[in-house]
This record gives sequence, C-alpha cells and structure tokens, in this order.
Amino acid sequence: MLLKRAQVKVISGNLQNTSVGLIGCGTIGNFLARKIECWPQVNLAALADLVSSRAAGLVRRLSCSPQVLSPAELISCADLIIEAASADLVPEILPLILEQGKKIVVMSVGGLLRLEPEVWARLSTAGQIYIPSGALAGLDAARAACLGKLSSVTLTTRKPPPALAGAPYLEKKGIRLDQLSQPTLLFDGNAREAALGFPKNINVAAALSLATLGPEETRVRIVADPAIKVNIHQIELEGDFGRIVTSTENAPFPLNPKTSYLAALSALATATLKQILFPSPLSILP
Ligand SMILES: NC(=O)c1ccc[n+]([C@@H]2O[C@H](COP(=O)([O-])OP(=O)(O)OC[C@H]3O[C@@H](n4cnc5c(N)ncnc54)[C@H](O)[C@@H]3O)[C@@H](O)[C@H]2O)c1
Repeated sequence: MLLKRAQVKVISGNLQNTSVGLIGCGTIGNFLARKIECWPQVNLAALADLVSSRAAGLVRRLSCSPQVLSPAELISCADLIIEAASADLVPEILPLILEQGKKIVVMSVGGLLRLEPEVWARLSTAGQIYIPSGALAGLDAARAACLGKLSSVTLTTRKPPPALAGAPYLEKKGIRLDQLSQPTLLFDGNAREAALGFPKNINVAAALSLATLGPEETRVRIVADPAIKVNIHQIELEGDFGRIVTSTENAPFPLNPKTSYLAALSALATATLKQILFPSPLSILP
C-alpha cells in the first residue's frame, strides 16, 4: 500500500542530518551526486577524485556546494562514504573507515578481494560496509542458498568487445578484441583471478563470490560477443536447495560501456532501501 505524502513527511521528519562524501566523480559518481543532492536531510558534504578537475566540474553542475577534498579528508568529515572510484583505492581507504567507525558503500567490489583478511573480517562484522547488488539479479537468493550446502556457483558474463577494452588479462595474453567476429570465451577461472584480470569489468564476480562460496571457489566465465549491445550476467547456483539461474541484460551508460546503468541504481538502492539513510525508501518521494 502506498503511503500518502503527509505520512511520508512524518517518517522523514524523524531523520537526523547525515553528511555523505562521494569518492569518484566519473560515470557513477555524477549520477549519484545529482540524486543525493535532492534527498531531504542529507548533505552531500564532499567530493574527491584523483583528477581534481572532475570533482570541480561536478561541483559546478550541482546546486549544493560540496567541498573538494582528498579521500582521507573526506572520510573524516562524512558519516556515510560512497566509493565509486577504483579497485586500487579500496584497500587504502578501508582501514580509515574502520578506525573512524564510518559507513561505506563500495562500488569497486573487486578491491575488497585485495584486503588483508583481518581488515575484511573486522569490517564485515562491524556492519560498516555495504555492497550493492551491482548489475546482478539474485544475490539475495544466493546468500540464502549459501546458508545450506552449495555445490557450485558460476557467473557467465557476456559483453560487447569494447566493454572489455583495456583489461590487464587481455593485454597480458595479447588478445585483440577488434579481431573477434563471433562470441569468444576469453576467460574461465575463479573470481579472484577475474577481479585481477578484469578490474573494471567484473565487480559482479566479486560481489557474487563474497555472497556465496568465496573468491577461490566461485567460477567466472567471460565471453566477448560482437553481436550484442548489452552486458549480460548469468548466474547459476546448485546446492541442496535446488538450482537457481538468473540472467540480467544491462544497458550500459552511453559514455561508459564498462558500466551498467543498473549498477548505479543499485548504489542508490543500497543507500535507501538498506536503510542506511532512510528508514523507508518512501520517505524520499517528492
Ligand atoms: N559493483 C558493480 O557492479 C559496478 C558496476 C560498474 C562499475 N563499478 C565500479 O565502480 C567504479 C566507478 O565506476 P565508473 O563507471 O563511475 O568509473 P569512471 O571511470 O567513469 O569514474 C571513476 C572516477 O574515479 C576517479 N578515480 C580513480 N581512481 C581514483 C582514486 N584512487 N582516488 C580518487 N578518485 C579516483 C577517476 O578519476 C574517475 O573520475 C569503478 O571502480 C568500477 O569498476 C562497479
């Protein structure tokens, strides 16, 4: 049942002001900042980007006036940090999050596989880290299935070749994407190897593995398909619960074929639906 506007105001009236810091002012960061600045009782306090002109450019496009800070400064001043930058940054900033008791939404999920095990264990038990479902469907059921006995977890990702350009694995193997004329299996390995070889493409593999069997036991297959225009993620799980197969066909952002639109929406859903910022997503309806 939909709540009426008056009821919505009562819900949002109970909230305290929360300051949000956004690290990474690229495709996802721009999208998120424009949404967050419209949320009631949330202050988009600070932005950070390795390329300072990107952060400054984003400030100009916003009607609020966030400060441009370094990631470390931003973490000190924000209650909730949203990382939408790079897998390399994740192991650098998570110890600071832990020390300062902050909450973080991590988009570069592959970076979590590079954390020291004790940092990861402390973060996950302290309830400070939120991992969006990204471009995947079915992570909730996968998590539930994992509480029983899971015998196999496989992610098959199909992407148009340009969406895989620049992956270190392809450069190392000398694989030329422009010469592919038919669907080609480029990689078949585990999620840890996939996250290292395709750090900008395969955050979904890291997310699936962290929800289920872990990075060593989660199988990942990556197919380049010149005939498709969308990024397709299929997950397949088998266990004592039965079998799950889900498939998600993701439209890419027009300016960044590596990033699916659903992944950016999933960051919003995590900040709202998971009740980090709002007790009910309805409380941010206009
Ligand atoms: N979880 C998922 O399903 C999912 C889906 C898509 C993208 N991602 C990840 O989210 C992140 C952002 O994606 P995007 O499409 O916005 O990328 P993008 O390349 O459009 O933007 C990234 C921005 O972060 C900045 N940046 C890079 N390294 C930085 C650092 N060390 N410190 C501060 N800023 C830094 C860049 O200058 C750039 O402006 C990427 O790591 C990407 O792999 C995750």
